[in-house]
Amino acid sequence: MPYYGINLKNKGKVVKIKVFIDSGKLEEIKKAHSYGILDGVTTNPSLIRAAVEEVKKDGTEIDIKEYIIKILNLAKGLPVSLEVIGNTYDSMVEEGIKLFNMFNPIAKNVYIKIPVNPSFEENSKTDFDGLRAIKTLSDKNIPINCTLVFTPEQALLASKAGATFVSPFAGRIDDYIRTENKIEFKKSDYFPYMGYEVEDKTLEDNGVLSGIDLVAMIREVFDNYSIKRTKVLAASLRNPRQVREAALVGADIATIPFIVIKELVSHYKTREGMKKFTDDIVPEYEKLIREN
Ligand code: G3P
Repeated sequence: MPYYGINLKNKGKVVKIKVFIDSGKLEEIKKAHSYGILDGVTTNPSLIRAAVEEVKKDGTEIDIKEYIIKILNLAKGLPVSLEVIGNTYDSMVEEGIKLFNMFNPIAKNVYIKIPVNPSFEENSKTDFDGLRAIKTLSDKNIPINCTLVFTPEQALLASKAGATFVSPFAGRIDDYIRTENKIEFKKSDYFPYMGYEVEDKTLEDNGVLSGIDLVAMIREVFDNYSIKRTKVLAASLRNPRQVREAALVGADIATIPFIVIKELVSHYKTREGMKKFTDDIVPEYEKLIREN
């Protein structure tokens, strides 16, 4: 059984989940904003790379500072997360301050993304540099989105250090569990939140049964200690069902790729119903509505 079952704890709570777009592409951010459901934007170096490559593919030059300013303006004051690129305390603090000072004055909407642990290897001397950078930057009132979170304990420490958001990477935990167990999958494949069963054994990563289980555990830990200042931002979401489950287990925010945002609204029976209602319009009703 998952540590924290869907539908147990959040019954009757007012739904307050926020929808962020996980993208650095201007057109996607603009469209998502125009849908009237957007609450924020998250980027990371890979998403910025994808956006830059798209702009440059026909030979167009990019001014990255101007480009980021466009993202901030498109977000119209909604939170936008920008990630540092360093992997030491000093570099992350310096970059965090630089990014914040450069971009926050534009729309007062910048959050700095800091990895919970920037080390490339186990037991590195930089293991606590992420938390230390979060502490220093949040003490300077720079809001922090702590990224690359894969355990509830990382989330707890990030919150203690002062993070405003913690970003558990749901899809990547699911990838890891499948890869470790030599299971083939496509990135968009659904992964059961209650765990992937193979020959009566539920696969897991150190007690975490799925990305959504991780989100649920973090929710539970934060609720246990009435942690309100840090919001649970479910990230690395790959399909609509995972977004639904992130909401069911009480994520405060879901950051969603544009393609998945589009899928959220789609259902065969909705389209079929629309066709039928349109076919059934009688002239009297049409006249009443369409003519003055
Ligand atoms: O927000 C985190 C996200 O960009 C990572 O997503 O699908 O690359 O694991 P993904």
